[in-house]
Amino acid sequence: MGKAKEKKKPWGGRFSGGLSGIAEKISASIQFDSRLWRQDIRGSRAHAKMLRRIGLLTDAELDDILRGLSDIEKEIEAGGFSFSASLEDIHMNIEAALTERIGDAGRKLHTARSRNDQVALDMRLHVRDESESIRTLLQGLIRVLVELSEKNIDVIMPGYTHLQVAQPVRFSHHLLAYAWGFLRDAGRLESAVKACEHLPLGSGALAGLNYPVDREFLREELGFTGIIPNSMDAVSDRDFILDFCYFASVCGVRLSRFCEELVLWSSSEFGFIRLADAVTTGSSIMPQKRNPDIAELIRGKSGRLAGNLASLLMTLKGLPMTYNRDLQEDKERLFDSIDTVTLSLAGMAEMLSTMTVNSERMKKALSSNFSTATDIADYLARKGVPFRTSHEIVGRIVRSCEEQGIDFFGLKASDFKKFSPEFEDDIIDIVKPEGSVELKLSSGGTSRKEVLAQIEALKKMIR
Ligand code: ARG
Repeated sequence: MGKAKEKKKPWGGRFSGGLSGIAEKISASIQFDSRLWRQDIRGSRAHAKMLRRIGLLTDAELDDILRGLSDIEKEIEAGGFSFSASLEDIHMNIEAALTERIGDAGRKLHTARSRNDQVALDMRLHVRDESESIRTLLQGLIRVLVELSEKNIDVIMPGYTHLQVAQPVRFSHHLLAYAWGFLRDAGRLESAVKACEHLPLGSGALAGLNYPVDREFLREELGFTGIIPNSMDAVSDRDFILDFCYFASVCGVRLSRFCEELVLWSSSEFGFIRLADAVTTGSSIMPQKRNPDIAELIRGKSGRLAGNLASLLMTLKGLPMTYNRDLQEDKERLFDSIDTVTLSLAGMAEMLSTMTVNSERMKKALSSNFSTATDIADYLARKGVPFRTSHEIVGRIVRSCEEQGIDFFGLKASDFKKFSPEFEDDIIDIVKPEGSVELKLSSGGTSRKEVLAQIEALKKMIR
């Protein structure tokens, strides 16, 4: 932003003095809301066409406005437009540039419109536009998880509760648990987009307009499904930004939890995966290090996403109807959430699609943790032993193994038989983790058949 010379403010008529330097700084939003330029121009085009329809512009004036807006659009696109802080925001910057180019027709564009109208429109259009690429990123991430799951369908790992080895699960089952979560995130994103589907424009500053504005035409022109029925609601509602920030927070927390697992799994203690060089960094002092910085940063950035939601909620709390300048504070929260969730989703997909899976280390982690204890208890239960009793018996077997410093694999069938007459020779197969996952008969469980069914279901949903 060039240190442009002081420009005359479009609202300057009733003032004899100018804003102080510090007030100017507090007031200006152009340094961040310039990114609404596409939406602002789109809104102005529609508004100008509507003004022509209701006879407030001549054909020649409309032509001038449309041509002027196209020139400005090209100039901004090419990076040659100079935004001025003294013109406060994107709306006044574009309007002033238009007037500079085409004269009085430009000054007519603001007939039957207020900036409150404009900002309410631009922000909704922005959420709608940006959500498209975020939706694509989410689907791409789910696709990566589905592909990894297919490829590693027979890799077995320890499943955890309390971060203690619990039962064997397929690695793909673990990955797909996240995929379902990301699918729900996509649903939350859709809800935020849905909250933007009604047109605010045509509301004026707050009370409506002294002109027969054709809101139905504006709705159609700008691709909204309906019209906000109350002008005061239209200019003061920021629910859709809260909805977006909520989506981004929940998705961010999910990414953070997943990153925490990548950090753990890539440690030498776990060794379940190796992250690619492209997403790991070295240490300036310890030559051997490969640090999972990208996973840590995505985990860390989730804090901003939750913070943006909390911050916006605090900004909105206590605002009387209708527009209050506090609402300008919604922009950095929204833009930061858009940028952060975009980067994080892309980073996550890159880490996952380039990592190496070490199935041997996963297998090894299953060899010394009694991970099939529940399967042994179920084995006895199937033979009629009450589950509470079989639980007790297997507990005693575990204790005895611990005393001897061995796992179930160190026991022979005859050893099992000492603990219960119900044990037969086939118990030796039951204690194997590969067998355990196939003993899961319930739908949604970790058997091969059920995991493949999940993969098919997800594939259909992200098509
Ligand atoms: N830059 C302002 C915002 O972001 C635009 C609306 C200004 N309206 C006003 N009445 N001052 O909210």
